[in-house]
Amino acid sequence: MATQRLFFALSLPDDMQQALVRWRADTFPAGAGVPVAAANLHLTLAFLGEVTPETSQRLQTLASRIVQPGFDLDLDDAGHWPRPGVVWLGCQRAPRGLLQLASLLRAQAARHGCHQSPQPFHPHITLLRHATQPVALPPRGFHWRFRVSRFSLFASEYSRGRTRYRALASWPLSSQDPHALLSAP
Ligand SMILES: NC(=O)c1ccc[n+]([C@@H]2O[C@H](COP(=O)([O-])OP(=O)(O)OC[C@H]3O[C@@H](n4cnc5c(N)ncnc54)[C@H](OP(=O)(O)O)[C@@H]3O)[C@@H](O)[C@H]2O)c1
Repeated sequence: MATQRLFFALSLPDDMQQALVRWRADTFPAGAGVPVAAANLHLTLAFLGEVTPETSQRLQTLASRIVQPGFDLDLDDAGHWPRPGVVWLGCQRAPRGLLQLASLLRAQAARHGCHQSPQPFHPHITLLRHATQPVALPPRGFHWRFRVSRFSLFASEYSRGRTRYRALASWPLSSQDPHALLSAP
């Protein structure tokens, strides 16, 4: 069977997608780059590349066994990577839960032959693509928070010049801190 281009990611609540799209339109001039569609805004945890159905299944089984509490994500940082032409939204301090989850998924992916970039993981939501010219970034002071209570596996599908991300599976992060459960009477 054919391979699929896959990645593990956090999706954003609908109201957050809409708020970010409005803020982006107010913040960046029209020519700064190509806006990512609201429904495509996401934060990648681990990029897998082209994956066979067998590897996809194995990684999904491992993902289903992850036991980790949810966490709050604060989006309060923005930046521009001119080489890939990406303008992004991120966090000044990534929560430990986010780094742990990404690190685990990336390690499992690497063990199954999915090349992982040697660059340190920099959690981000791509807002604009093809932004190769200098871009004026907004001053610090913007801030969104949302609760992350699940993560998903997406297939990246490219057709007629458009990329669409299709959720293949999704897993919950536990709502309670396991330490709290352990110390409960
Ligand atoms: N999806 C396809 O099959 C395909 C084929 C040909 C051309 N394109 C074009 O390529 C551009 C990028 O597409 P896309 O980002 O929507 O889909 P994508 O390349 O499949 O990326 C999906 C997600 O994985 C991340 N990612 C991609 N390569 C990575 C790597 N080597 N290491 C770590 N993370 C990685 C991306 O991060 P970032 O958000 O930081 O990029 C994005 O969050 C678009 O302009 C699209 O039109 C896509």
